[in-house]
Amino acid sequence: MKKILFVLLGLLVICGAVTYAVMANSRKEIDMSDKKVLVAYYSYSGNTENVAKKIQNITNGDLFEIVPKKAYSKNYNEVVNIAQEEKQKDIKPELVDNGNVKDYDIIFVGTPVWWYTMAGPVKTFLSKNDFKGKTIVPFCTHGGGGASSTYADIQKLAPDAKVTEGYTSYENSAKDSEITEWINKLKL
Ligand SMILES: Cc1cc2nc3c(=O)[nH]c(=O)nc-3n(C[C@H](O)[C@H](O)[C@H](O)COP(=O)(O)O)c2cc1C
Repeated sequence: MKKILFVLLGLLVICGAVTYAVMANSRKEIDMSDKKVLVAYYSYSGNTENVAKKIQNITNGDLFEIVPKKAYSKNYNEVVNIAQEEKQKDIKPELVDNGNVKDYDIIFVGTPVWWYTMAGPVKTFLSKNDFKGKTIVPFCTHGGGGASSTYADIQKLAPDAKVTEGYTSYENSAKDSEITEWINKLKL
């Protein structure tokens, strides 16, 4: 009887230790202190911004919000129409600040999926910066259609960059543990 109790107690301790290790690991910051990291994002309604802030928290990088000079309408249907026109005419809207990726090695680039690709302001950001020798780590949030051609289009607009596998999440469903796992897997 005593033996069984000991075995059970042992199993309980092992289970507890494993659970603790898994939870601690999922929360852990990733040590990227030898790299200069920028987390650049555009977000219309907050979902992509939340992912960007999670990534910034995990990597300890600098955060840069891509802001169009002319703010998009708060009316969802109007934005949908404007974004469609921007896509059809390949319009790259002017930004308040084009940003500067010169001092960074790794640039996370986040966007909502707009009409099966990145949002216009992110197109501008990619076009206005020189990504030669840089690593772009893309991420996007979507409303059910997935990343579509977002990541391939990012590579097209930054042909000199190494574009890694992206992190794709539905609306506001991104999880710290998934993000940590994704970044670890990339071995940046
Ligand atoms: C103009 C516009 C176009 C969109 N096009 C798509 C699309 O092609 N596929 C999709 O899955 N979701 C689409 N969505 C939904 C957004 O990608 C989704 O809500 C996203 O999480 C919003 O991110 P944000 O809160 O950072 O702006 C679109 C939303 C807008 C406003």
